[in-house]
Amino acid sequence: MTNRTAFAAALAALAALLLPAQAPAAPVANPSSGSAWRLPPPPYPAANPYNQAKAELGRQLFFDPRLSGDPSQACATCHNPGLGWADGMRRAMGGNRALGRHTPSLFNLAYLRAFFWDGRAQTLEDAIAQHILAPVTGESSSAVDIERRIGSLAGYRAAFRQAFESPRITFDRIVQALATFVRGIVSRDSPFDRWLGGDATAMSEEAREGFALFTGKAGCVRCHSGPAFTDSHFHNIGLNSVDPGHFEVSGRPEDRNTFRTPGLRNVAATPPYMHNGSLPTLDAVIEFFNRGGDRIGPGNELKPLGLSREEKRDLRAFLDSLTGGETEMPVPILPRGIIRTGARR
Ligand code: HEC
Ligand code: HEC
Repeated sequence: MTNRTAFAAALAALAALLLPAQAPAAPVANPSSGSAWRLPPPPYPAANPYNQAKAELGRQLFFDPRLSGDPSQACATCHNPGLGWADGMRRAMGGNRALGRHTPSLFNLAYLRAFFWDGRAQTLEDAIAQHILAPVTGESSSAVDIERRIGSLAGYRAAFRQAFESPRITFDRIVQALATFVRGIVSRDSPFDRWLGGDATAMSEEAREGFALFTGKAGCVRCHSGPAFTDSHFHNIGLNSVDPGHFEVSGRPEDRNTFRTPGLRNVAATPPYMHNGSLPTLDAVIEFFNRGGDRIGPGNELKPLGLSREEKRDLRAFLDSLTGGETEMPVPILPRGIIRTGARR
C-alpha cells in the first residue's frame, strides 16, 4: 500500500464512521420537493430595476384609461385582476369588435422569455411597448401622443419624479413603470406550493397522483416545465385554428401553428383556454390532450394518451391545486364602465 492509498483508505473509514451521524434520516419528504418547481421572487432586469415608487406608478397607469385615450379602456379592462388578469372571454373585445386572439392572464410573466401567443416580443418592456403602440384594438397612438397625454395630467409629474428621480415623462418610462408593476403579479401559496414546502396534507391524494401523471405518463412536463410551468418555447399541439402563430415571427415553415407554452399557475381561474379561447373548461383541455389534439397531421407534437377516467380526474385535481393567492396588490377603485365583469362566454 502506498502512503496515498493508505491515507485514502483511512479517510474512507473515517467517513464511514462519521456518515450516519452527519446525515440524518431523510425526512418523509415528497419526492419532488426541491427548487425546480418553486417560484423564486420575480427577477427584475438590470435595465429596469425595481423600486416601489415605480411599481406604484405602473399600477396607476395600468388602471388609467387616459393612457389609451379611450375613456372605456384601460389595461385592466382586458387584464382584469378579478378575472385572473384576463377578461373571461373567448377572444378579446376592442370596442364591440371581437379580436383575433384570447386575452392571456398576466400571472408570472417575470419568469418568461417570450411574450404574446406568437412570441413576437422577447422582453416584457418590448411586449408592453408594442402593445401600446399597436394595440390589439387596431387604433394606434404614437409615443409622442402618449407622452403628451400622460404629461398633461396633474399628479403624474410627482409620481414620475419619485420613480425615476426626475419628473420627465417619456414613453420609455411609461413602459418601464408598467413592466415593473406587471412583474409583481406573481401567484403564491397554492396548495401545490404548500405541499412542496413540506405540508403533506396540502394536496389531496388525487392532486398528488395528478402531479405524477403530469410529470410522467401524460408528458405535460415536456412543455410545461419549471416553476411557472412553461418552457417559453413554441409548440404545435394540433389545435383547430388558422392562426399561423410563431411562423409569422420567425418565417420558418416548421413554426407554422406553434404557440408559446402558457404558464399554468392559477390556470383554473382563467377560462376559457388556448390562443383562440376555443376550450371552455379545464376538463375540455384535458380531453383535448388525451385525444392528442384535434388535427392529427404534420407538425402536431401530441400523441393520444389513453388516460382513464380516474387519471383525468387526478390531472384536473392537480391543475386546481396550482391556484393560489397573489402578491399583495391593492387595486384602486375604478370608474364604472372601465372594467368588464363576469363576461364569461
Ligand atoms: C382590448 C384588450 C386589451 C387591452 C386594453 C390590453 N391588452 Fe394586453 N393583451 C391582450 C391580448 C388579446 C393579448 C394577446 C395578444 C397576442 O398574443 O397576439 C395581450 C397580451 C399582453 C401581454 C403579453 C402576455 C403574454 O402572455 O405574453 C402583456 C404583457 C400585456 N398584454 C399587457 C398589457 C398592458 C400593460 C396593457 C395596457 C397598456 C394591456 N395589456 C392592454 C388584450 C388587451
Ligand atoms: C408539446 C408541448 C405541450 C404538451 C406536451 C402539453 N402542452 Fe399544454 N399547452 C401547450 C401549448 C403550446 C399551449 C397553448 C396552445 C395554443 O393556445 O394554441 C398549451 C395550453 C395548455 C393549457 C391552456 C392554458 C391557457 O391559459 O390557455 C392548459 C391548461 C394546458 N396546456 C395543460 C396541459 C396539460 C394538463 C398537459 C398534459 C396532459 C399539457 N398541457 C401538455 C404545450 C403543451
